[in-house]
Amino acid sequence: MVTTPLELHPPLPAEEYAERRRRFLAALGQGTAILPSAPQAYLHGDVEAGYRQDGNFFYLTGLNEPQAVAVFAPHHGEHQFVLFVLPKDLEKEVWTGYRVGPEAAKELYGCDAAFSIEELDQKLPEYVEGATCIYYHPSRDEAMNEKIYRLWRQMVNLRQRKGYGPTVLADVNPILHPLRMVKSPVELQRIRQAVAIAAKAHIHAQETTRPGMFEYEIQAGMEAIFRQHGGAPAYPSIVASGPNACILHYGDNIRQTQAGDLVLIDAGCAWGCYNSDITRTFPVNGTMTRPQQLIYEVVLRAQLAAIEVVKPGVPYDQIHKTAVRVLVEGLIDLGLLRGDAAEIANEKDEKQQKYRPYYMHRTGHWLGLEVHDAGIYYQDKEVATLLAPGQVFTIEPGLYIGPHAEPFAGQPAIPDEFRGIGVRIEDDILVTETGCEVLTAAVPK
Ligand code: GLY
Ligand code: MN
Ligand code: MN
Repeated sequence: MVTTPLELHPPLPAEEYAERRRRFLAALGQGTAILPSAPQAYLHGDVEAGYRQDGNFFYLTGLNEPQAVAVFAPHHGEHQFVLFVLPKDLEKEVWTGYRVGPEAAKELYGCDAAFSIEELDQKLPEYVEGATCIYYHPSRDEAMNEKIYRLWRQMVNLRQRKGYGPTVLADVNPILHPLRMVKSPVELQRIRQAVAIAAKAHIHAQETTRPGMFEYEIQAGMEAIFRQHGGAPAYPSIVASGPNACILHYGDNIRQTQAGDLVLIDAGCAWGCYNSDITRTFPVNGTMTRPQQLIYEVVLRAQLAAIEVVKPGVPYDQIHKTAVRVLVEGLIDLGLLRGDAAEIANEKDEKQQKYRPYYMHRTGHWLGLEVHDAGIYYQDKEVATLLAPGQVFTIEPGLYIGPHAEPFAGQPAIPDEFRGIGVRIEDDILVTETGCEVLTAAVPK
């Protein structure tokens, strides 16, 4: 019996992938798209990290193997979808697990032709010479980037001599990402499951955290719940108590919590290749101090106001603008900022943003197959993407009054009572026909 990587998660229906490919092939026009799988990552030396597939590649193929390339050639007479995969090698598979191999790939993954990855260089020209454009997205895999650049150079020379062949090398994301941004019903089921598991873990953390627990104990309790449900951390879980909450990418999770701390938990679950991303901040001993409560309430107001604006047709950046406006008003009320709220909130030059010492990140990101999912935020300079039903994203404002934070020049000094308070509240939002659904509403805030 063989275990394919996909059997580890319930596979999506074959028709789901076929439909995605139909739409992608139609959008490619006369272009050929070349999409490589993600390279294998290593923890150290030759110790492999858990494999995480490239989002574009997985979206269109469902294949969860490294060293594979998918080619889409809508203009090709016979082969519009071609896979290049690792050849079968039973000896190597004993070490690294099952490989589908070219023979089975055609049947299992619905391609028109499949070859060994070793034949890639030789076969690629056949699939690009009839195209007007090569679509590709440059990645950190420089060897692959160079391979595609050499192919393009070869094709440009071909055109000079033969009068046909692609002249343009273009980014594939503007073609593919608009398709990925709107989630299908089965994708939404997966996201809901990833949310449900993470919600359970957050509720467990809120109910069981006591002063004196180490951050990693809280993390362990949550990740046990992810694993018990067949999930895994969607990204390194952040369990940040006390002043650690002011470190945006804190991940050491080694501090012992103390009575009087807030703990900021940013932990999401990956399930069936889809993700959730949730942040909650709560007091370890059940009660907030007055300064903690004041900061928390500003963040909560900002988050609720931002959620309120979500409905189809609204420009995406309206969410961030709304959150910033409410945060700035709150900071002025608390005496942490001074000036005109609208003027401070509307400042475009990052270096001039007076709130930036306390709020230095954007208010969210698309969410799906990747935690920071496919999709553009602006269609043109200052022209934001419009919200549409089926889009999923996070809304995650925060305030961070770091122990070493320095107010913007000319702004009020930070009272000691606010130092070391960090709060973020993050929910996952689905745009519906009439407004939005807060997918993560089950987690108290
Ligand atoms: N935890 C990653 C993020 O919130 O974007
Ligand atoms: Mn997030
Ligand atoms: Mn997060």
